[in-house]
Amino acid sequence: MAETIHNGIRPLEDPGRPRIYIETYGCQMNVNDSEVILRIMQDAGYSLTDNIGEASVILANTCSIRDNAEQRIWGRIEQFRLQKRRQAGIVVGITGCMAERLKDKLLESHVVDLVAGPDSYRNLPEMVKAVTPDSPQINVLLSQEETYADISPVRMDKNGVSAFISIMRGCNNVCSYCVVPYTRGAERSRDPQSILREAKELAENGYREITLLGQNVDSYLWKGEHEVNFAGLLEMVAQVSPEVRIRFSTSHPKDISDEVIETMARYENICRHIHLPVQSGSNAMLEKMRRKYTREWYLERVRKIRSVIPECGLSTDIIAGFCGETGQDHRDTLSLMEEAGFDSAFMFQYSERPGTLAARKYPDDIPLEVKTERLNEIIALQNRLSLESNSRDVGKRFKVLIDGISKRNEEEFCGRTTTNKVCVFSAPGYSIGDYAEVEVTSCTSATLLSKLVK
Ligand code: 5AD
Ligand code: SF4
Repeated sequence: MAETIHNGIRPLEDPGRPRIYIETYGCQMNVNDSEVILRIMQDAGYSLTDNIGEASVILANTCSIRDNAEQRIWGRIEQFRLQKRRQAGIVVGITGCMAERLKDKLLESHVVDLVAGPDSYRNLPEMVKAVTPDSPQINVLLSQEETYADISPVRMDKNGVSAFISIMRGCNNVCSYCVVPYTRGAERSRDPQSILREAKELAENGYREITLLGQNVDSYLWKGEHEVNFAGLLEMVAQVSPEVRIRFSTSHPKDISDEVIETMARYENICRHIHLPVQSGSNAMLEKMRRKYTREWYLERVRKIRSVIPECGLSTDIIAGFCGETGQDHRDTLSLMEEAGFDSAFMFQYSERPGTLAARKYPDDIPLEVKTERLNEIIALQNRLSLESNSRDVGKRFKVLIDGISKRNEEEFCGRTTTNKVCVFSAPGYSIGDYAEVEVTSCTSATLLSKLVK
């Protein structure tokens, strides 16, 4: 009997097929990769399950960014061992960055049957088929070309409002602390027409928010018949529908161009938010991190953003306790945070990653207690800055895209402002996926408490 072709963008419900269970760790890019994996496996005859007990294939799509991310996954692999004892014949696979970094070391656990790096997902069906107890399968070849451009991701999000589109893969920066260039390979941009096709498909299927993803979106460059840079791509995607919001991540301070900022200003549906990881406020640390910008450069970019889009939300990533970081370097980070006035931040302790430039060149010499103390100071300062930023919004009105039910009160919705702040409010008669006009009545450092404007 011929296989029916299922092109739908939501997971296929077909309990008659062998089931696949997928767990995702790490960044948004990995979430989108899991959706690509599901398309490939669905086309090969599988259907998704969220019940691990009925799966014949279990995949963990993993992250290596910090040691604690990997430790968590090792813990999970031990749980898969128990699952395998209960269900003979299931295939356990590790995909993603940890697969690429650890390669056959993962097989030593005697739990993992399959190891597939980020550029090998097209081969997953054959690899799964070829697994036997004595022949685990491994493919960790990185590619210069693979962008999965022709593969329509099967969207696994619950609410059908917000989706990711990967516009590029890999990374050509060599930030000295970072494992990503080794796990995801060289940078390559995806054909803009395939990106547009995906954006239109999402819009037609009721999605209201698209986030364009790349390790460094500002260096997106398609060298086809007509060259397209990131500003050009952003504009093309913004024109798909005024009802669909566009976000993007991640911008690199050395590469974010005036053209991108000005394009944002021209389209109301390009959200007023930039995630601009600074990592440190100390020039000495930035140099050692090989970030290729200075504190002054970074603050100039912030001023430019604010001069073109005064209301723009700004978030960042910060690493505490990088190699050789002095008390003064740390204070420079605190003062930069104050000057930039970040609305929110992801904050981490430095975690040495084997094989990176920093691991080879610089001792990881900041004691754990000092890293923790500095990180806590950074978090405390950011909490204050976030509260100040949110307080400035009290009394203001925002157009919010409803994307879920509030966690603290099931009677209320939650959604985001264009500046990427979370709002909670009650809105009888509204549904997830609707836009609502709200007025902020009070706030915490994490949330704007709001009421519907009639
Ligand atoms: N240790 C701690 N944080 C790291 N990041 C990347 N590599 C490391 C590391 N080795 C952080 C950076 C990056 C974010 C995704 O993770 O802040 O922007
Ligand atoms: Fe994403 Fe980086 Fe983690 Fe890989 S290592 S999953 S690119 S966060």
